[in-house]
Amino acid sequence: MAPLADAVAAHNREVADAGRWRSVRVLDGGGVRAVLEDGPDGPTEVVHFASNDYLGLSQHPEVVAAAKVALDTYGAGAGASRLVVGHRPVHDELETALAARAGTEAALVFPTGYAANLGVIGALVAAGGRHDTLVVSDELNHASIIDGIRAARVGVAVTPHLDLDAVADALAGRTQRHAVVVTDAVFSMDGDVAAVHDLARLCAELDATLVLDEAHSVLGPALPRVDGCHLVVVGTLSKTLGSLGGYVAAGRTTVDLLVNTARSFIFTTGSSPADTAAALAAVRIESSAEGDVLRARLRGHVDAVRPGHPTPIVPVVLGDEAAALAAAAALLDQGLLVPAIRPPTVPAGTCRLRVALSAAHRTDDVARLVAALDGLDTTDLQEDALA
Ligand SMILES: Cc1ncc(COP(=O)(O)O)c(C=O)c1O
Repeated sequence: MAPLADAVAAHNREVADAGRWRSVRVLDGGGVRAVLEDGPDGPTEVVHFASNDYLGLSQHPEVVAAAKVALDTYGAGAGASRLVVGHRPVHDELETALAARAGTEAALVFPTGYAANLGVIGALVAAGGRHDTLVVSDELNHASIIDGIRAARVGVAVTPHLDLDAVADALAGRTQRHAVVVTDAVFSMDGDVAAVHDLARLCAELDATLVLDEAHSVLGPALPRVDGCHLVVVGTLSKTLGSLGGYVAAGRTTVDLLVNTARSFIFTTGSSPADTAAALAAVRIESSAEGDVLRARLRGHVDAVRPGHPTPIVPVVLGDEAAALAAAAALLDQGLLVPAIRPPTVPAGTCRLRVALSAAHRTDDVARLVAALDGLDTTDLQEDALA
């Protein structure tokens, strides 16, 4: 027998030796301009291209003010799970607004988007029966979807990325009575987009539920409207809406199912009134004329970096860990913080910079980034990686 602590230390060494060691970094400041406390030469002023605050709403004065009012009214925490005494009027208001935004009968707020995926997949599979349900999942789906499927202990067909024929084959050839197709609408590390309308048509034809995770759908795709498709929308309050939390928007019976059976809704404290109020204010701004202006600015920034790219997530794929880390370090030397993304977040050999653009960036921030990316000598980076 050997102490587990030794295995823990050995595991950590393996991760570090593989160039995959991670540690949290202290960033002091809100918005895209901040001080990286533990920069290579001490505290460093940076513009970061690293958050999912795509419209900059986390810093919007009305969003911040709404959170403050909720803090003053209700205090810091919800104090209990939503089904016990953790439900405030602001939760109802936000759920009504989220349902209207998605065009569904109802919506339910979860503590995070991660919890929303865990809850919705688990509840749908439990309702269908885990031996009687097939889940069809794109190979690049977000970890919270993968974990939801694993926790549900259900049969899964993992389909090649964006391969509609493979989804159709899995659905048509299934032996189970029920099927759930689940996909990111925008893939979080590649910034590409699922064919959501085709998937909805396929699900309607082959009698499957479509679970669409719209966590990153700020510039589209629009939700599909297809007769006969049982559509369940999952999203997060933590990215475009600048707050913290997740949601599911769906028909009333599906939301009732979640309230009654989704473990990640039932067995956790309700999201804080301040986070909830902030998200509600953000939904209102997002759907106003100001929201159009912010999206247009974001669209312009994306076009400046990669013309025509459909989303604000722009991957710059470099290969191995060392190449991605060297590129991130070269940008940081110029005061630009762009994260290097490595396994297990992305498959080995596809390490990358993940550029995340925001309406909060200024045009000259984006111009600096473009110049810096153009100046990266990827041959040198590969050589650094080999050194
Ligand atoms: C596609 C996708 N779904 C769900 C989540 C989880 O959302 P949250 O950060 O609110 O837990 C994320 C991001 O983290 C995501 O990228």
